[in-house]
Amino acid sequence: MIWQAVLWLTLAQLVAGSFLLPGDVSPTHYDLRVGYDLDPTTNFSFYGVVSIVLSANKPTTKVILHAKDFNITSEAVSLSGGDQDPPKVLSASINDTYDFLTITLDKMLQSDVNYTLTIPFYGNLKPGLDGVYISSYTNKVTKIKEYLVTTQFEAISARKGFPCFDEPMYKATFKITLGHNKQFTAVSNMPQSSRGENNVMEKYWPWKVIRQRFQKDLSDFVWDEFDKSVPMSTYLVAFVISKFSHVESPSDLSTTKFRIWARSDAIDQTAYAANIGPRVLTHFEKFFNVSFPLPKQDMIAIPDFSAGAMENWGLITYRETALLYDKDQSSFVNKERVAEVIAHELAHQWFGNLVTMKWWSDLWLNEGFATFVASIGVNAVEPTWHADRSYAVENILSIMNLDALESSHPVSVPIDDPKRISEIFDQISYRKGSTLIRMMTMFLGEDVFRKAIHNYLIKYSYQNAEQDDLWRELTRVSRANGGLSRNVTVKEVMDTWTTRTGYPLLTVTRDYVDKSLTITQKRYLSLGARMPTTSSWWVPLRVLCEDDSRSATPLQWLADNEGVEAPHRFQHDAKPDQWVLFNFDMVAPYRVNYDKKNWKLLADTLNSDRYTSVPVLGRVQLLSDAFALAWTNRLDYSIPLLLTSYLRRETDVLPLTTGLGALAKIENVLIRSPDYGAFQKYVRRLISSTYERAGGLAAKKIIDGDNLNSVKLQVMTSQWACRMKVPGCEENAIQLYQQWMDTSDPDKENPIPLDLRRTVYCVALRRGSVRHWRFALARMQRTNVAAARDMLLSALACTRELWILNQYLEWAITEGSEVRRQDAATVIVSITRSAIGYYVAKDFIYTRIAEIHKTFRGQAIRLGAIIKTLLDQFTTQRELDEFTSWREKNAAYLSEVKLSVQQAVERATVNIAWVSKHRQSLVTLMRENSAEPETPVISRWNGQPNFMLSIFAIHNISSVTPSRHA
Ligand SMILES: *[C@@H]1O[C@H](CO)[C@@H](O)[C@H](O)[C@H]1NC(C)=O
Ligand SMILES: *[C@@H]1O[C@H](CO)[C@@H](O)[C@H](O)[C@H]1NC(C)=O
Ligand SMILES: *[C@@H]1O[C@H](CO)[C@@H](O)[C@H](O)[C@H]1NC(C)=O
Ligand SMILES: *[C@@H]1O[C@H](CO)[C@@H](O)[C@H](O)[C@H]1NC(C)=O
Ligand SMILES: [Zn+2]
Repeated sequence: MIWQAVLWLTLAQLVAGSFLLPGDVSPTHYDLRVGYDLDPTTNFSFYGVVSIVLSANKPTTKVILHAKDFNITSEAVSLSGGDQDPPKVLSASINDTYDFLTITLDKMLQSDVNYTLTIPFYGNLKPGLDGVYISSYTNKVTKIKEYLVTTQFEAISARKGFPCFDEPMYKATFKITLGHNKQFTAVSNMPQSSRGENNVMEKYWPWKVIRQRFQKDLSDFVWDEFDKSVPMSTYLVAFVISKFSHVESPSDLSTTKFRIWARSDAIDQTAYAANIGPRVLTHFEKFFNVSFPLPKQDMIAIPDFSAGAMENWGLITYRETALLYDKDQSSFVNKERVAEVIAHELAHQWFGNLVTMKWWSDLWLNEGFATFVASIGVNAVEPTWHADRSYAVENILSIMNLDALESSHPVSVPIDDPKRISEIFDQISYRKGSTLIRMMTMFLGEDVFRKAIHNYLIKYSYQNAEQDDLWRELTRVSRANGGLSRNVTVKEVMDTWTTRTGYPLLTVTRDYVDKSLTITQKRYLSLGARMPTTSSWWVPLRVLCEDDSRSATPLQWLADNEGVEAPHRFQHDAKPDQWVLFNFDMVAPYRVNYDKKNWKLLADTLNSDRYTSVPVLGRVQLLSDAFALAWTNRLDYSIPLLLTSYLRRETDVLPLTTGLGALAKIENVLIRSPDYGAFQKYVRRLISSTYERAGGLAAKKIIDGDNLNSVKLQVMTSQWACRMKVPGCEENAIQLYQQWMDTSDPDKENPIPLDLRRTVYCVALRRGSVRHWRFALARMQRTNVAAARDMLLSALACTRELWILNQYLEWAITEGSEVRRQDAATVIVSITRSAIGYYVAKDFIYTRIAEIHKTFRGQAIRLGAIIKTLLDQFTTQRELDEFTSWREKNAAYLSEVKLSVQQAVERATVNIAWVSKHRQSLVTLMRENSAEPETPVISRWNGQPNFMLSIFAIHNISSVTPSRHA
């Protein structure tokens, strides 16, 4: 869209009262000094002073910057520099609408003069998870409650830490000095340069003033000074003041000094991070051919953390589950997640930190890159995991539903209100962004891609860039290497993907006589097109024909204007009795529909011993497409069910997860209906043998603990088997849990195989009593391993005791309860997702929205996830009507999640339409497909779709397992 491309250039000058800073003054350096009193009895007070070196780009009498949540005494603000008689400060005032701090001067600032603006400030740290905030923990050894000060500035919370020009394009250097009680250690982006005993703010805040609120002697305090940083955006500034311990990575793994920090009683869980962190960093230096510019890299695990991790330059902060790994208590998928998040954050040190998007509209440049490059980093240190393949699948599949909504948004998204920035840290920015970058590497070739990325990183180092800058570098290198076929530029191709919402559906119709086929393209929408869409794309195409022995045709393009008005004709080599397959390597996000005969040919091969002649990503694509096309009435359900039957043969976890994930979507709308039994029976027959082959719960151990595919197969099939009531599954789970309860020291001994714990806990708590629940709660309170805590936290939501569910929800919104603020969303979402909990949670959300809203202040995306989870399960118009009238009365609480609400409503509408159109016929088909008698199943427990367990959710960056900035 044109409007968005010119947004940056014009808006600032155009609209007085715009949400953007006016741009007539630029900072170049900040000298920040703050003293924090980490003491609850004196309300965590602080005093600070920031001196900002700035210059005017044009004459002005106003300096406008950001400030929020602390106090400034107008008279203390001063300006110096330039000639002997610099402008005097007349007033300083904060307007809360956009957090503008306006300093009014008595005369114009001169251009070409460096002024220093000095602003003393003071206040108290508030509870919350952004800005400068307090986290706490109880030391498991000493039993003492400890506090720490930490920061989370992305996207717009640096302004809560100190007055600053809080937009990513105002890069400056930072010199930070932190005062704190002697028993604590401070870390920041840069290495510490000195430690002093004198109050470095004495001129602005004499100790006798500070003393009034700190109530402590100066001699209790020390002042840590850090080296001046490289030029960077405010959202990357970070510091932590704590009593943590640290380990240093072996120095032969990286030239950069690498340290991992954690609570001292969890420091033994840092070994994995200390090993892979420096190796990933070193790999990226080689891969981009750009060295890491800072002398050190610290990574630190924070007990209370809203996202998954945050890439602050030189001081990456993590939630504990994303950094710490305990080999006796963390599962394989926990380990996988640690590796992924570390690689993601380290990738940001280049994409985001060194080169930064100009404005949050291009957030995808940061997040898409980091998400994509993470797979390269993980591949380098854990090659047997095949991270590139599995992340590609997860990323593509997880956006296909969202992006099929009319209310989705383009990757490059205009932002008209800073309060809504939080909402775009979503699947589209992370996963579609990543998918599109992977697509580029595939059509450009890795060499071209790497060379161009290197040039881009060098050219824009310490500066900001927009997507066009990237396209230019890519096109330049590509042209030097022969260019793309049809002489298309990277920009022409990519603009169709990044500025347009959604993705195409290709409809392929074969002419079986003359070996040709025709293709049309059209936006794929879940509701069908209510309004005519004219979107089209540059679609990369590769076609595989049966018996091609995998040498597919070279990449071709379906151009932006082709296949739109009239079908586009293609030649291919398949004989009439052989199939053709598009997108077998999932190069881009699109769906493909074929004529019925071609579908049948594909299904026949899948249901034969030759099924691997369809490459694994092709199998994924076929399953995903067939179910989606049937869902939207473009294909008869007999086709996806026919494809699905081959899953009995499948041994690769990716197609299995895809097929079962598609069935889970159907389960979601049937789970409370009278037809759920038929669904269970159908799926039970489908998975029983795979469940047994994979080891299941009966083996009471992990069959092949070193093989990620095998572990995931065992976990996933166990979870499905219990939910589908495969005989023995739940009984085994309950037995294992009982064994655990019977051990003499359950906090030390746990007989349940590590990777199966989530599944076993949930079954046991679903079927168990209050006693079982209390046991799990006690273990959660005592464990010292965050990953173990997390497993229990979600399992506690599996109970069907209504009063416990209500109590658990209550805790989620109560400060100081068993549920930490960072976990509140996980608890509410987990309960909302469960078959019974849904009813309890709905009531809770409707009646307690004021408190829920308050709990997630500054984390709008979490509130959005809760609303989405609820509406995603609506199947009746009555539920939607009820929501609509509730929404009208509670609009004030939903103003920051407008987009999520809109998407949620559309999703509910999609479900409702599906139920009236397809439920009957699909259930009939499923009954027919599982007609033969099977062993009777006695237990009739209601299942629960614990989507949190699917592998999609394990890497889920932005929904519930939170890691917005991961
Ligand atoms: C604060 O800023 C908003 C938006 O620019 C403006 O509408 C409002 O009048 C300002 N408030 C005050 C008290 O100046
Ligand atoms: C800071 O200002 C607020 C109002 O703007 C006031 O309520 C508060 O008491 C002030 N804090 C201190 C420590 O003076
Ligand atoms: C202002 O500061 C910048 C950066 O420190 C420096 O490059 C520039 O020469 C200074 N300008 C003047 C007029 O002193
Ligand atoms: C390819 O495009 C460029 C710029 O659009 C043009 O200068 C060049 O002549 C074209 N090359 C061919 C072979 O069409
Ligand atoms: Zn990120």
